[in-house]
Amino acid sequence: MMTPESPRAAASASPTRSEQPPGPPPRKGLLEDALFYARFATDPIGFVRKRFETYGDIYRVPTKDVPLYVTRHPDHAHEVLVSRAAHYDKQHSAFKQLSTVLGSGLLTSDGDHWARHRRMMHPVFARSRLAGYADVMVGETSTELASWKHDTYRDLGRDMTELTLRIVSTTLFSHDASGDATRTRTAMASIHDVLGGAPIPEWVPWPGRKRVAESIALLDDLIFSMIARRRERGPREGASDLLDLLLAAKDTDGDGAGLSDREIRDELLTLFLAGHETTAHALTWTFILLAQNPDAERALHEELDRVLDGRAPTFEDAERLPYTLQVIKESMRLYPPAYTLARRAIADTQVGGYDIPKGSEVVVWLYMTHHDARWYPEPWRFRPQRFEKEAEARLPKLAYLPFGAGGRACIGRAFALLEAQLVLATLAQRYRLHLVRSGRVEPKLRITMFPKRRVVVRLEARRL
Ligand code: HEM
Repeated sequence: MMTPESPRAAASASPTRSEQPPGPPPRKGLLEDALFYARFATDPIGFVRKRFETYGDIYRVPTKDVPLYVTRHPDHAHEVLVSRAAHYDKQHSAFKQLSTVLGSGLLTSDGDHWARHRRMMHPVFARSRLAGYADVMVGETSTELASWKHDTYRDLGRDMTELTLRIVSTTLFSHDASGDATRTRTAMASIHDVLGGAPIPEWVPWPGRKRVAESIALLDDLIFSMIARRRERGPREGASDLLDLLLAAKDTDGDGAGLSDREIRDELLTLFLAGHETTAHALTWTFILLAQNPDAERALHEELDRVLDGRAPTFEDAERLPYTLQVIKESMRLYPPAYTLARRAIADTQVGGYDIPKGSEVVVWLYMTHHDARWYPEPWRFRPQRFEKEAEARLPKLAYLPFGAGGRACIGRAFALLEAQLVLATLAQRYRLHLVRSGRVEPKLRITMFPKRRVVVRLEARRL
């Protein structure tokens, strides 16, 4: 039944308007600019929340170059990402730096090029492939476990990043016998470290830029020679890491051709960057939330002990561990690693009945959607049961969108959920993680959202 607070009701209450949404007045002078950046940098979430409280579900920011619209409403998200998706592309300012590294990979490209690649990469992420990836996920996590000891301290964020890095590298180019795979992984990680820092304007002289350029040159060298060796050797019986699949991919619904070396390089880098950090953050937040919520932790242990009884999980176990998945989903509601989605309007369009001129940028602040009491009562509470089947089905459309929505939604969604579920099941079965520092863990916002300070945990073995 529709309540006055449901998004559909709210949207139909707003008539078609041609005026602009409300928003803050233009900033005047350098001092106001400096104050704005300082306030935004210290507490971006508080800053944006205040704006929504002041102006409502959508507001306009008068910037010097392109108009910027910011929204949190699920119906607006649906307009931008699904029903009017053709009015947008992804060439927005936030992706500029990323595009220089990723080239025209899936995440940052548009139009026919993107559509062709999305078609060709679809089989790489097909359900039938997931079972093979699951073995890698559990295998790498078991290797990680071998270095964990009762009553020792670990840097949680670092451990999760290294683990997801190994998982994505093994699934991408595992079968490469040479040392290139390791060197490629190291060079990719160094690019990632620099890109993950604070955005630096082009005109600021900055040594990091040189480091990125050098790492890109090294990476290109390594990746192109890896591709050349595999092309020379030809297809292998039953071989199926991602690189093999990309080399074999054909656009059967289009021109029938395969991907060029350059295209494969861009996709490899994209999958690597998009595919490990996000999952690492999701796992880090999940362990933090479990340490802070003993009831949920107990319920998780109960499920793991009952279903697995001490053995390592398999691909088939994933659907027998529904609570484990609910824990992951609720963690990504509270701390969505990709906390905003941005688009550039390539045509005059509308959001929420407001006119959005061509060239504007629109940001869906999905973190705010996920913390909205209209869709999530007591939004700050960690309650995995929100994602029990029936409860999840009752959520308004696009009130939950950690993987985006529409044609540009995350191609690695199933991969990521399976990975998070299997890693969590493997580790939580053996250890409880206690936070060394008590109190709320503040998030830091860059391209993705992660804990502001290092999270140190003490391990307590569950099965000695
Ligand atoms: C918890 C983990 C993950 C989260 C939260 C996440 C989130 C997202 C989101 C929100 C988008 C849409 C961006 C937009 O609409 O602008 C996206 C796109 C994408 N993701 Fe993920 N992702 C995750 C894991 C992965 C993994 C494991 C892979 C690959 C191995 C991956 C590869 C991609 C790619 C290639 C795109 C671009 C898709 C396209 O535009 O066609 N992601 N991801």
